[in-house]
Amino acid sequence: MLKPDALENGYMGKIIDMIIEAGFEIKAMKYTRLSTEQAKKFYEVHAERPFYGDLVEYMTSGPIVAAILEKENAVADFRALIGATDPAEAAEGTIRKAYAESKGRNAVHGSDSDENAEIEGKFHFSGNEIY
Ligand code: CMP
Repeated sequence: MLKPDALENGYMGKIIDMIIEAGFEIKAMKYTRLSTEQAKKFYEVHAERPFYGDLVEYMTSGPIVAAILEKENAVADFRALIGATDPAEAAEGTIRKAYAESKGRNAVHGSDSDENAEIEGKFHFSGNEIY
């Protein structure tokens, strides 16, 4: 996902370009806005964390771009491309180093395993939206 801060700050095109340049193939893509129910569900693994309420509020504060990306070793390579959760700790050349504001408003989300990528892909897209 490209998160609300990235879109608010006008970085949609630049981030998508970095993703394509890094060799990811876009299998599905959608410009949308999460409802509170959807954001709560998407981040339910973090429900007990102190930042959960702020996370849900922020993720529903504006539109997002959801995408399914394909590449050899996609999960690890995408996490390397986006950089550390906190942009202050993100390496040079990563999306979060270039475009994230803070640990909370950190521009992008990437799935942390193949299993979660499958779940999160199905969360955003139905079969005829994936190519
Ligand atoms: P993401 O990769 O989308 O997965 C969970 C999100 O929770 C994470 O990115 C951050 O945006 C957010 N998050 C993690 N830790 C914190 C924190 N300490 N404070 C605020 N938000 C956080």
